[in-house]
Amino acid sequence: MAKTITLKIQRQDAADRPETRRWETFSVEWQPQMNIISTLMEIQKNPVTTAGKRVPPVVWESVCLEEVCGACTMVINGRVRQACTALVDQLAPHGETITLQPMTKFPLVRDLMVDRARMFADLKKVKAWVQVDGTYEIGPGPRQSQDNQDVAYPLSRCMTCGCCLEACPQVNDWSAFIGPSAINQVRLFNMHPSGAMHAAERLETIMGAGGIADCGKAQNCVEVCPKEIPLVDSIAEMGRATTKHMLFSWILK
Ligand code: SF4
Ligand code: SF4
Ligand code: FES
Repeated sequence: MAKTITLKIQRQDAADRPETRRWETFSVEWQPQMNIISTLMEIQKNPVTTAGKRVPPVVWESVCLEEVCGACTMVINGRVRQACTALVDQLAPHGETITLQPMTKFPLVRDLMVDRARMFADLKKVKAWVQVDGTYEIGPGPRQSQDNQDVAYPLSRCMTCGCCLEACPQVNDWSAFIGPSAINQVRLFNMHPSGAMHAAERLETIMGAGGIADCGKAQNCVEVCPKEIPLVDSIAEMGRATTKHMLFSWILK
């Protein structure tokens, strides 16, 4: 008999239809090197539950299929991670049922797909870029030292996937906390020799309501970051930088 994989998937037809939330179970034929996206693609070909009911195909999002875009992030067996690098043989070595749920800290679009727009809006808020418009005539900017690059590179690997926000207890419906990934971006761009031009503005953004002071230091974020970004170090570093900025602004008043 062919080996099969069982997936129990949390579904919901639309964000404004919570009454449609339900679990559906599917069985797909095992193939070597399968990941969660390939099992979802198999279900899409023939969306029939194990109870024999034909249902609408499961909706999810994916783009790069190599843990670079963050689009396929979902909660797999209770842990937030990317579906494209979640290998079936590791998740269910003895044919255990695999559960799939959407992230809970973002608005649901449908089934496993959520809207991560708030993270991109937060990148805009903290000016997560080096401003180069209008600088061409001035010539090249200051060089970034090797030491600076060594610290910056790990911070730059963020793919805005949302795992850290999903795991953070301070990110919830009652709080405006910006979350660890945007704070990490403030550190990244403030340490860049040209990006530092906007350092004060970035610090002031995370000093206000919903800023760095809301971090409860539970460290869940660093545990789930698939890119192993030192988020707790970034938060501590930016905590010191905002305190310093506040003191200097107060003295200079
Ligand atoms: S910091 Fe890590 S967990 Fe958070 S969004 Fe970036 S890559 Fe994802
Ligand atoms: S340290 Fe804890 S409270 Fe702070 S951002 Fe990380 S998970 Fe959230
Ligand atoms: S599809 Fe891009 S990270 Fe999974």
